[in-house]
Amino acid sequence: MNYFFYFCRKIVKYIPRIDNTLYIYIMETTLVLLKPSCVQRQLIGEIVHRFERRGLQISGMKMMQLDNDILRQHYAHLVDRPFFPLLAASMKASPVVAMAITGVEAVAVVRAMTGFTNGRKADPGTIRGDYAMSNQQNIVHASDSVENAAIELRRFFRPEEIFEYRCATMDYLYSPDEY
Ligand code: TYD
Repeated sequence: MNYFFYFCRKIVKYIPRIDNTLYIYIMETTLVLLKPSCVQRQLIGEIVHRFERRGLQISGMKMMQLDNDILRQHYAHLVDRPFFPLLAASMKASPVVAMAITGVEAVAVVRAMTGFTNGRKADPGTIRGDYAMSNQQNIVHASDSVENAAIELRRFFRPEEIFEYRCATMDYLYSPDEY
């Protein structure tokens, strides 16, 4: 059951409706890292606020210092790229804030809020488009798929560091057939 809960939780639940049809709701949890470029520029509160304002729920949050081991896992797809040493240095430059963020289709919603990798090309209104001028110092990391969110949440959080609770605002964030 715990496994079901914390490994990203793409939860599909069916509950009976009055007319005997079924609701299908998909609650996901995704990983966000507030990078040293966010922490050092003292934007933690502002970025957290954007996720909360959207209606996303914070299920876990902690500050941590990254090291080479975790960075080589996390950026395994980039370790052979020439910019990797600079990327690793930028991610170790100060602590980061790791967040587990939950909502219906949260992976795609958060990824869209994050914007294009290069802040100079990211659309205004996205986090990178509003706060970043760099390809590397781009404020946030967000999981790019449900499968990767599950892997990344396990990489950065222990099961007991992610909390399941019902937000009081749920009935006003979603219609009853959406969650
Ligand atoms: P990537 O996974 O391609 O992008 P995203 O963060 O949007 O999912 O790259 C991971 C990080 O690597 C990116 O946030 C910043 C860094 N990076 C560079 O420093 N230079 C580059 O040319 C690219 C593509 C990424």
